[in-house]
Amino acid sequence: MNLHSHRSPAAIFSGPGSVQMAGDALVELGGKKAVLICDHGIEKAGLNAPVVDSIRKAGLSVQVIPEVEADPSASSVNSIVASVRKGNFDCVVGVGGGSSMDTAKLASALAVIPAGSSGNAEIDVRDYLGTNLIPGRGLPMVMVATTSGTGSEVTPNAIVSLPDEVRKVGAVSRHLVPDIAILDPDLTMGLPPAVTAATGLDALIHCLESYIGKKANVLSDGYALQGLRLIAGSLRKAYHHPDDGEAREMMLVGSCYGGMALTAAGTAAVHALAYATGAKYHIPHGVANSMLLVPVLEKSLSACGERLAHVGEAMGITGDSHEVLAYLKSLTAELKIPRSLATFGYRDEDLDGLVAAAAKVTRLLDNNPKAFTNDDIRDVFVAISHE
Ligand SMILES: [Fe+2]
Repeated sequence: MNLHSHRSPAAIFSGPGSVQMAGDALVELGGKKAVLICDHGIEKAGLNAPVVDSIRKAGLSVQVIPEVEADPSASSVNSIVASVRKGNFDCVVGVGGGSSMDTAKLASALAVIPAGSSGNAEIDVRDYLGTNLIPGRGLPMVMVATTSGTGSEVTPNAIVSLPDEVRKVGAVSRHLVPDIAILDPDLTMGLPPAVTAATGLDALIHCLESYIGKKANVLSDGYALQGLRLIAGSLRKAYHHPDDGEAREMMLVGSCYGGMALTAAGTAAVHALAYATGAKYHIPHGVANSMLLVPVLEKSLSACGERLAHVGEAMGITGDSHEVLAYLKSLTAELKIPRSLATFGYRDEDLDGLVAAAAKVTRLLDNNPKAFTNDDIRDVFVAISHE
């Protein structure tokens, strides 16, 4: 039997100005008292203001918690969960990139769990990291994406950092799939080129890894290929011309497709290794992925050459898988992705720890088209360790 499953939000609103639908979206979900979760940067940039306006116009009250950390640690998530539990809210809005949306998704799910149900007096997100450990749906939730990258607005994943263990771990549950996603390209117009590059390449890699991974299937392939088309046609434009509204819209929809693809098929070794370097050196997630992309693909090529050629076709590249690798190399160089871990403080004595941390991410390594041994992981880290 060859069974596949895919889950997604009940509704996606997209297009310039779609942020104004946030309030009605919450009304549709039965909300009256909303909590908006974001980070200080979003609040300072005023990106949550149109969301707050829309919520108030729809007749709901809203409290903003702008406390999300970049690469949120378990303790930062726990503190926001505690605030949401105390506040008696009946719906959650996440506004931001992956960190904000992941935290908001976890706050939604953990807000309704009875204290003590995991054996701990307080709710601790660490009890729910892993696959299918969240017991049920939480508060209704609407996600408003402000980067074209993570795809978290449609996925069942939330990534949490465990600083003591120098690693990042995902909670994966159907109960983390948002109810409604909003894709308003106007909110991404001010993104600086470095963020456009990192988040855009992350989205491209979601599509690519979902398409070449072992779990790729007929449901996920459509999202992956369409995402690759949209992203390849707009990422360079959005990077070089940040106010190109059409490119911004295509990137946002492309990254949403990336999220759909990875929901149905999963990411693979690029993401597994990126969690290790990201946790160790606090490298932005998209940068960590982009640095690893070509070396991981080179190692995997014997098992995914034909699928990689399809990826190239979708991106408008003529030629075989080697042409695709050459294109990805030139794209990451054009978008000024750093080439070596030394830029972030790598020392040779870190290597064993990085290999051990990456090897633990079996959820993603197992999906790589070619089995990835500890020696393969080591070779890839060595390849990007120094200029
Ligand atoms: Fe990613």
